[in-house]
Amino acid sequence: MHPPYMQSESNFEKDPNSLTPLNKRAGRFLLTEKLGSGTDGTVYKGHDPVIDRDVAIKILTPPANPAERKSREQQFINEARAAGRLSHPNIVTIFDTSVENGTTFIAMEFLPGRDLRGELNSGRKFDIIEAANIVQKIAEALHFAHQNGVIHRDIKPGNIFVLPNGQPKVVDFGIARAPNRVHTPGNTSGATLFHNNVMGTPNYMSPEQAMGRNVDEKTDIYSLGAVLYELIAGVKPFPSQDMDKLLQQIIHKSPKPIANYAPNVPEQLVRVIVKAMQKDPKQRYQTAGEMSAALIQFLERDRKLKRKRKNGDAGATPETGNALPWVSIVAIVIAIACIGLYYFLR
Ligand SMILES: Nc1ncnc2c1ncn2[C@@H]1O[C@H](COP(=O)(O)OP(=O)(O)OP(=O)(O)O)[C@@H](O)[C@H]1O
Ligand SMILES: [Mg+2]
Repeated sequence: MHPPYMQSESNFEKDPNSLTPLNKRAGRFLLTEKLGSGTDGTVYKGHDPVIDRDVAIKILTPPANPAERKSREQQFINEARAAGRLSHPNIVTIFDTSVENGTTFIAMEFLPGRDLRGELNSGRKFDIIEAANIVQKIAEALHFAHQNGVIHRDIKPGNIFVLPNGQPKVVDFGIARAPNRVHTPGNTSGATLFHNNVMGTPNYMSPEQAMGRNVDEKTDIYSLGAVLYELIAGVKPFPSQDMDKLLQQIIHKSPKPIANYAPNVPEQLVRVIVKAMQKDPKQRYQTAGEMSAALIQFLERDRKLKRKRKNGDAGATPETGNALPWVSIVAIVIAIACIGLYYFLR
C-alpha cells in the first residue's frame, strides 16, 4: 500500500521516465531512492526530467489530525518559499515547492555525501580547525538568513552537510519545525508534550525553546554553539535520552567543560562555544555575524601562529627577530679569523 500522500503506480502517466526504481513521483519529479525521514517528512533522491538533474525531494508527512492538514500544508509551502528566496553558498538551494495530487513537497539541490550526524555516528573525529571552519561558514549563512527574516529553529548536525569540496551547507532552513514545547495548563503529569510526534531527542534545542517561549535568531546561535561543542568534544553537550531530564538540563545545567574531553582546545575557541551557549539569550552573541567574526579571529590567529612556527623551523629571515643566529655566526667566524691571524703573526 502507498501512503495516502503519494501517488500510487496506477496514477502515473504512461511515461517510461516514470519507471524509476521506486515508481513514485512528486509533481514532475521522479523519486529514485529514499534518503531518510525526519520530523515532518521524508526525503527522497529524485530526478528532474525537464532540467535533467538530480534533486532531493522532501515530502510532507500529513499531520495525524486531518483538521490540521490544510494549515500545515500552507505553513510548509510558505516556509519553503521564504527559504527559497535565500541565495547563499552555504544554504541549500530550493528549486520548487508545491501541492500536487495531494502530495506537498519541496524540491531542492541534491547534496552528495553524508550530513554531520552521519559523519559523527560513523566515528569520524573532527580536527578543531576543520570544525571551526565549518561552523564559521554556517554562522555566516545564519546571519544572512536572519537578515532576511528567516530563523532556522532546528540547527543540528543532521541539518548540516559538508560537500566533498569542503563547502558546508545548511538544509531545512525555516522548513524544519523545531518542536516547540506545548503549554498544557491542565497537565500535571510532568510529561512533556510537543507539537510534532515524530522526532528525535532535541539535544541542540535552546533553553528558550525548551521552555516553550517565543524564539528569535539567538536560538540558532545557541544550537550552533552546541554543534561546535559536539564536533570538538565528540559528545553532545547534553546527551540524555530521557526527554524530561534533557529539557531540565538544557534549561538549568551547564555542559561539562570541553577540556574534560579535549584538553588541548585553545581557550579562545572554548570562549566562543561558552558564549554561544549562554542560557540567557542576552548574554550570547547578539548576531550570528558576531559569532562568525569571533571564529574568523580564532582561525586567523591560528594561521599566524602556524606561519610563525613554520618560519622558525625553516630558519630565520634577517628582518625578523630570528636575525640573532646570523649575527652570532658572523661573530664566531670573525673571532676564529682573529685567533688564526694572531697565531699566524706570532
Ligand atoms: N538536500 C538534500 N540532499 C541530500 N540528502 C538530504 C537533503 N536534505 C535532507 N537529506 C537527508 O535526508 C534525510 C532525512 O532528512 P530530514 O530533514 O527529513 O530529517 P532530519 O534532518 O533527520 O530531521 P529534521 O526533520 O528535524 O530536519 C537525512 O539523512 C538528510 O541528511
Ligand atoms: Mg533535516
